[in-house]
Amino acid sequence: MATSAAGPVLIVGSGLIGRSWAMLFASGGFRVKLFDIEQQQITNALENIRKDMKLLEQSSSLKGSLSAEQQLFLITGCSNIQEAVEGAIHIQECVPEDLELKKKVFAQLDGIIGDDVVLSSSTSCLLPSQLFAGLVHVKQCIVAHPVNPPYYVPLVELVPHPETAPATVDRTHALMQKIGQSPVRVLREVDGFVLNRLQYAVISEAWRLVQEGIVSPSDLDLVVSHGLGLRYAFIGPLETMHLNAEGMLSYCDRYGESMKHVLKTFGPIPEFSGATVEKVHQAMCVKVPDDPEHLAARRQWRDQCLMRLAKLKSQMPSQ
Ligand code: NAI
Repeated sequence: MATSAAGPVLIVGSGLIGRSWAMLFASGGFRVKLFDIEQQQITNALENIRKDMKLLEQSSSLKGSLSAEQQLFLITGCSNIQEAVEGAIHIQECVPEDLELKKKVFAQLDGIIGDDVVLSSSTSCLLPSQLFAGLVHVKQCIVAHPVNPPYYVPLVELVPHPETAPATVDRTHALMQKIGQSPVRVLREVDGFVLNRLQYAVISEAWRLVQEGIVSPSDLDLVVSHGLGLRYAFIGPLETMHLNAEGMLSYCDRYGESMKHVLKTFGPIPEFSGATVEKVHQAMCVKVPDDPEHLAARRQWRDQCLMRLAKLKSQMPSQ
């Protein structure tokens, strides 16, 4: 097994996201080294991964063609960074979202890696030009931003530094596809990348609608979970336009003016504070009280739903 497996891939930081990456790479048959500055974090991660993989296997939801035991065999902990980078084909950084910490980690890796490994960050919002500035191996650097929980939500945003080599982007794209993820190329860095820009646009208008008393917080969420969201799980907003008329040209011709009319009525950026935050908070707590137990139970339910949706999507004939 170990000799025929590809890799190794090195995960730096074995918290929530590092563990998910480790499981995804192992599902694709890659050997994985898990590194962390906290030995206990590595131990916890390995235990956690074992538990998760066994549960996934029992519910026939384990990714890849290998058994849980075979995948677990591919993942090892490593507490020496010099040894950890040896032979690595891809390094996925997953340390906390702190620019100075990440820059320190990248500077250290930059000093010990060769010319043939991709150095990738999981950052949610730090820009490649901030993260990778001045690195000798900047051509090999890229952001590969996953979506939580990455095991069930396959999207990965690939964001290059202005000096990232096109080959680095291509190679990372191919690697993500190989482990069953859905990579997209963000062609130029921008605050929020693409997913969070869309998400914040939705949150922003949701907030204004509640603030202005047009809809209740719980009904607002229903509009998405029982309306827009169902469609968006299969087709995006642009294809929705294309299908909701006789093609895109027909849609813009028919609805362009009314869209512009509505868009002009959108208000300013909300403050996300004051009376509205109280109102939204109370409404959310009626459904899910904000103590750790209720939040954890609801997250678990969400992940179960996402897992079943992922299964459904994989069973749908592709067109
Ligand atoms: P976490 O706090 O769960 O894990 C961070 C891990 O990094 C810890 O195990 C910590 O011991 C380790 N660490 C700290 N300093 C280190 C160092 N110098 N070298 C090696 N390991 C070190 O954080 P989480 O949630 O896994 O986030 C990691 C990254 O992934 C962040 O950049 C975050 O923005 C990004 N991300 C997080 C998502 C989420 O929903 N949690 C979603 C998408 C991306």
